[in-house]
Amino acid sequence: MRIVKFGIIGTGLMGKEFASVSARWCHLPEMNVRPEIVSICDKNTETFHWFQSNFKTITQVTDDYKELLSNPDVEAVYIAVPHHLHEEFYTATIKAGKHLMGEKPFGIDKESNKSIMLAIKENPETFVRCSSQFPFTSAVQRIGEMIEADAFGEIIEVNSGFLHSSDLDQDKSINWKRMIQYNGEYGCMGDLGIHACHMVFKAGWVPLNVRAVLSNIIKQRPDGKGNIVPCETWDNAMLLCETRNPKSGQTFPWTFKTQRIAPGEKNTWYFEVLGTKSSAKFSTKQINTLNVLEYKGGNQIWQIVDMGHETAFKSITGEIFEIGFSDLILQMWAAFLYELDNGNPETRFSGCVTPEETALSHRLFTAALESYASAETIELETGQ
Ligand SMILES: NC(=O)c1ccc[n+]([C@@H]2O[C@H](COP(=O)([O-])OP(=O)(O)OC[C@H]3O[C@@H](n4cnc5c(N)ncnc54)[C@H](O)[C@@H]3O)[C@@H](O)[C@H]2O)c1
Repeated sequence: MRIVKFGIIGTGLMGKEFASVSARWCHLPEMNVRPEIVSICDKNTETFHWFQSNFKTITQVTDDYKELLSNPDVEAVYIAVPHHLHEEFYTATIKAGKHLMGEKPFGIDKESNKSIMLAIKENPETFVRCSSQFPFTSAVQRIGEMIEADAFGEIIEVNSGFLHSSDLDQDKSINWKRMIQYNGEYGCMGDLGIHACHMVFKAGWVPLNVRAVLSNIIKQRPDGKGNIVPCETWDNAMLLCETRNPKSGQTFPWTFKTQRIAPGEKNTWYFEVLGTKSSAKFSTKQINTLNVLEYKGGNQIWQIVDMGHETAFKSITGEIFEIGFSDLILQMWAAFLYELDNGNPETRFSGCVTPEETALSHRLFTAALESYASAETIELETGQ
């Protein structure tokens, strides 16, 4: 079993998720490679206690990411920090020759993403991917297989989105994710958008142009210190993209929604593909359910498939048991380590988001900002 020694920079919400994944690696009986956490870094040292009491393999704790990067024991790094730090931390990690799993949006804006892309180009020996776990849901893996098998026929329409509702509470204090300085101009697109793009980009479907409507619904919030302060980030984004299916050369409409204020939706990720031969719909609201319509003439009947635990990477969990958030994170990390070790993903839809896919998302979100500002449809820049 190959052991990849990891450093974690940013030991907040997502840093803990990865550490927990490393502790339940025994769930994946067929993996030939596993992560081991040896170093952690955060400015907030109060987070260290949980890590140190649960992970005896940690030999370095620091509040300076450069110290972690100069540790020769660290082979790979997971970085989960606010977006304004992505460019500096990711480029330094890549230049230090460490493999990197970076969090979305992979740079606070298009320019910082470009600088990360340049570092990757100049250091081709490092393996770099971006985190996004939802396609590892059993139902979505099945939709991926349907895409591979050309089961949909001509694509009629695709809808994807990621919906939250906690910001409906006007009394909720502002945090870094609601501040342009730390989260970026993209607002909810930067925060939630990669998740909504992931399957579309993996399928090879290319947005050509975008018309966006962005909403800043709640314009001020308490700061937690007794003051009311401006809250300037976009709460909700709705994008309509003319999107090309390179296999047929035809275009179809793709609707993309990322919303921080979606009444009734706690953490709802959805993906729908409507085609001339088949259609499929999935939402995390019904995590175990895949809706499929296979059209062969005659009645059009939506079938409901109970998915259970069909995973890209074999798990000890019984196949009839439903999948959950922490299983998706485990599967995503299996994908990262499998590809790091083998050089290729096991299948197209069992790979993590690539740097090129993050660059496409930045072109899309930048065009969406321009579209809303000008009230026009904006052509996307083509990739390099
Ligand atoms: N994949 C997902 O589902 C998912 C979910 C939530 C967040 N995210 C992404 O993960 C990243 C982090 O988000 P989070 O929710 O974990 O945030 P968080 O606020 O819980 O954690 C961020 C951590 O970074 C630390 N930090 C800030 N400045 C630092 C510095 N200079 N050096 C070292 N550490 C520093 C903070 O102290 C904090 O502990 C973001 O890019 C976010 O978009 C991904």
